[in-house]
Amino acid sequence: MNEQTLERFDVVELVPGFRPPPQAAGTPTGAALADASRRARAWSSDVQDELKPGTDLHRREVCRMFRDTFNPYRPAVLDWPRLDAATLQRIVSLPIWDIAVQTEGKARLRMAAYARTLGDADMREALALNAWEENRHKEVLSNMVRAYGIRLAPEAAYEYPDDPEWAYLVTGYSECIDSFFAFGLFEAARRSGLFPPELVETFEPVMQEECRHILLFANWAAWHRARLPWWRRIRFELKVLAVWAFLGWERIGLARSIDAEGNAQAQDNNFTVSGARSVTDGAIKVRELLALCLAENERRFSGYEARLLRPTAMPRLARLALRCMRKDG
Ligand SMILES: [Fe+2]
Ligand SMILES: [Fe+2]
Repeated sequence: MNEQTLERFDVVELVPGFRPPPQAAGTPTGAALADASRRARAWSSDVQDELKPGTDLHRREVCRMFRDTFNPYRPAVLDWPRLDAATLQRIVSLPIWDIAVQTEGKARLRMAAYARTLGDADMREALALNAWEENRHKEVLSNMVRAYGIRLAPEAAYEYPDDPEWAYLVTGYSECIDSFFAFGLFEAARRSGLFPPELVETFEPVMQEECRHILLFANWAAWHRARLPWWRRIRFELKVLAVWAFLGWERIGLARSIDAEGNAQAQDNNFTVSGARSVTDGAIKVRELLALCLAENERRFSGYEARLLRPTAMPRLARLALRCMRKDG
């Protein structure tokens, strides 16, 4: 993969046959935006049969969901509301912008790299669209950073992964973890009133898009698993375990370094620890935040076909943690 291709990131070049979704001409009206947002958060299948993972029917319906719920918002026309000095300062000093921009940069490349290896055209297109949407998230963030004068550390060059499946699994499970907490933090931020509602509105499509992404990921994983012969399946499960171990180590390590120093580092992967303090002025308790994450997770997924699988690890862990906390009084 030549460096120029990686630098400018073009899914069409990376994934042969991918066609970017058509963009609406002109500035969309409020009604068009509301309609797109409504279609992006609800989808049901008209197929009566069971959507058994690994079957062509399951794959077809998953990919159809992903296409049908595409939200055609354009980063260039998003409004960045004027902020008063205190709010601007609060946003500029959130310790998440570098890692957020870089996470989107890595995700788009890793998803495209894995999509490119897929023989199944339907799934390849869906994952390529996911990569395209990660690139759009990066554009949204870049525009916001520019609008508010947030200073970013220079981005290191993005490296094409040696093992695209490993890279895709790391990105996919990371999104499952981060989105679960992001849903709760986003709602906590909205309720806190510390951020103007227009700004929260601007980010809303990005949040819901992450929900669609992890919905696709959970169903891709089940489809992929079910189609593997047993010996490759064992290898795959070991890889998944290694990915979780890697992600756990990465996050625990970072959380600890934050605790020890008493503040978040500029380059931390731990949105939750640093994010919860900043978006709520420290007013929210861990238990409340977990309960909010669970409720928001449920709400964001509730519009999608119930026969499609959902990510389960984070909601299960959160429920377990809440039960333990209740026992402890
Ligand atoms: Fe993203
Ligand atoms: Fe995503």
